[in-house]
Amino acid sequence: MEAISETKTELTNLSGQEFSRRSLLQSDALYQYILETGVYPREPEPLKELREITEKHKWNMIATPADESQFLNMLLKLVNAKNTMEIGVFTGCSLLATAMALPDDGKILAMDINREDYEIGLPIIEKAGVAHKIEFREGLAMPILDQMIANGKDHGTFDFIFVDADKENYINYHERLIDLVKVGGLIGYDNTLWSGSVAAPPDAPMNYIIKKYKDFVLEFNKAISVDPRIEICMLPVGDGITLCRRVI
Ligand SMILES: C[S@@+](CC[C@H](N)C(=O)[O-])C[C@H]1O[C@@H](n2cnc3c(N)ncnc32)[C@H](O)[C@@H]1O
Repeated sequence: MEAISETKTELTNLSGQEFSRRSLLQSDALYQYILETGVYPREPEPLKELREITEKHKWNMIATPADESQFLNMLLKLVNAKNTMEIGVFTGCSLLATAMALPDDGKILAMDINREDYEIGLPIIEKAGVAHKIEFREGLAMPILDQMIANGKDHGTFDFIFVDADKENYINYHERLIDLVKVGGLIGYDNTLWSGSVAAPPDAPMNYIIKKYKDFVLEFNKAISVDPRIEICMLPVGDGITLCRRVI
């Protein structure tokens, strides 16, 4: 917990410029073009409202951007996801995009150490008529996952799992999630290109947060690239999202 609040203090002390990880594209203008042409004109009203409220939050730079929410929403519909999980909710941008993609009897088990931020988005989630699909659990994700594995009844039951939390634990999450996702199901890991720092030369200037977690992201990327239990696809959407499809 201490490490997380330390990170949030560090984030607060950084300007948006120093921690700009909204797009990996070659120009801001190109990213703006995508948002204005393909995302904002068809953004559902609840997602727009939540995005605008989240923009006022002092840690707005950690929220899932609108183009990534749009991507997740379409992906979930394509795979007909019904039983899903999210680790790392913040104000709920990706959570709402997920909830809006699921059928009426779909489920999202959502976890975050901080309920306060989730409650910022909750009235919008309720107004959108999708709150009944969400079970929010406040707390560290790891013990919740361990408990689920120990219970035994959740093995291989999830169609889709989105991980957008503490980067230092991605490898540990993966070992548990590979058990919980069904064969043929997907796990999406966010921030796997970590502002592009994963391919930067060792002496490249980078802000403190990027530097601090870069090695965890590199280690994770390396480990899953040779994991025979999954197929992977690394996408330069948002800050990089790696899709893992469980094959055995
Ligand atoms: C990048 S934000 C999530 C953004 C969110 N997916 C969205 O759509 O805006 C990361 C979140 O992970 C949460 N978090 C960090 N470490 C965690 C842990 N060990 N267990 C559960 N949640 C954690 C933080 O409180 C924070 O809200």
